[in-house]
Amino acid sequence: MADALQNYIDGKWLDAADGGRFDVFDPSTGAVIATAPDSQPADVERAIDAARRTFDDGAWWPGTSERERGRILLRAADIVRREHERLSQMESLDSGKPIGEAREDISEVAFMFEYYGGWATKIHGDIPPVGPDAMSLVVKEPMGVAAAITPWNYPMMMAVQKVAPAIAAGCTLILKPAEQTPLTALEIPKILEEAGLPAGVLNVITGFGETAGAPLVASPKVDKVGFTGSKEIGKLIMRNGADTLKRVTLELGGKSPNIVFADADFDAAIEGSCNGIFWNQGEICSAGSRVLVQREIYDDALNAMVEHAKGVKLGAPGAEGTTMGPLVSKDQAERVERYIEIGSSEASMAVQGDRPTDPALAGGYFVPPTIFADVDNKARIAQEEIFGPVMSVIPFSTPEEALAMSNDNEYGLAAAVWTRDIKKAMNTARALRAGIVWINDTQTAPSETPWGGYKQSGIGRELGASGVEDYLEAKHIYVNLAE
Ligand code: NAI
Ligand code: MG
Repeated sequence: MADALQNYIDGKWLDAADGGRFDVFDPSTGAVIATAPDSQPADVERAIDAARRTFDDGAWWPGTSERERGRILLRAADIVRREHERLSQMESLDSGKPIGEAREDISEVAFMFEYYGGWATKIHGDIPPVGPDAMSLVVKEPMGVAAAITPWNYPMMMAVQKVAPAIAAGCTLILKPAEQTPLTALEIPKILEEAGLPAGVLNVITGFGETAGAPLVASPKVDKVGFTGSKEIGKLIMRNGADTLKRVTLELGGKSPNIVFADADFDAAIEGSCNGIFWNQGEICSAGSRVLVQREIYDDALNAMVEHAKGVKLGAPGAEGTTMGPLVSKDQAERVERYIEIGSSEASMAVQGDRPTDPALAGGYFVPPTIFADVDNKARIAQEEIFGPVMSVIPFSTPEEALAMSNDNEYGLAAAVWTRDIKKAMNTARALRAGIVWINDTQTAPSETPWGGYKQSGIGRELGASGVEDYLEAKHIYVNLAE
């Protein structure tokens, strides 16, 4: 029997009021591994009311000290470390990512709790000078009730990078994880309850976007929405949130350039370029999906990347040695396959790896690593986010040409530059319109640093100091001191 998951509202585990459920799949086999509440607007309302009441009654904020809020998060970090292997297995099973990558995710989840546990006691305002007859205090206060709407590619990380700073800031919240991957999100309230979080501060509801996500965005009782997902839904959230002037943080997609100059450390650049698009099956918003290679080394680089792709081991995500698992869902696999068809008419396919041969995985949503060569930067596979293991390789001659093509895209999330020339690296980094630029590296995202995009890749920055700032309002208190 598959696990019957439940919502967590006001400290209680509940089914949807109408009893509706949906299936959760193991993407490597297509088997049902759990069912989860198909929450409807009435369930969402109940969760919002719990969060609103808990915020408005004052016992959580300002009633609970910053030290205690911090300690709750620090204890949560310890609990995640204690449960590390179990959570990693669960994440790998639910999302399809290789177990080694899931372990890295869960380690970072523990650190996010620790990092924001430290922040709780370090949020403070400012005292700008306003002359001899007055004093101005700028006080930082929690934004109120926050909603977190999260995707399936890094299920627990994407949730905790919203939940932890919100708690540090003193907000209450409602988390709605992606319908594809609700398992680890429902572990978060267990961890925080054990760590001492009072009922009502964090509420978690599972369900689909239109029925369980949209009511969070429309509700006048919710002050802020933090969203990670597609550009299309990001825009819808801005539109639907406009009526209540919702504060929004949007972490959307990308079509990130990965620029390899001829003077780069060749092996490191090849390895990095491949990892940048093949890690996590390419289901990464910052994936280096456009690999721009300088002509002098183009043929050698392409050959080396083709060899790398052939060496990728598709298989059961839980098996040690697997380097690529299935895509998260049948829908996502079909979407990526459609792009591979489009690419086949736009460019030349340099390689496509093999599907796993194990009959137990016959029903899995596997899409092998695929490389298209000599891609025109105007092609759809160079302009649109695919969100799968599909690399578009684009030749260039001069740094100016590489830059122009890199910036010629509606997204601006991330970019990578591979070169031994520090001036070229820095000048390129400065000219790139992207929220994150890696020099001789890719995809590294320490939780101490800001994460977010330029242009249509989003609004705001999560993680680092900005991650907590996004859950705060500034209140100016003006004191007249004139005699
Ligand atoms: P999505 O944007 O539809 O889903 C993300 C989250 O938004 C889920 O929790 C979903 O239930 C929720 N949602 C959907 N409709 C909503 C609505 N009307 N109101 C409120 N919440 C809503 O993404 P989806 O369909 O899973 O994937 C489609 C594409 O989106 C992918 O192929 C990829 O290109 C992109 N994507 C980008 C991600 C990123 O990290 N930036 C993560 C996931 C997907
Ligand atoms: Mg969708």
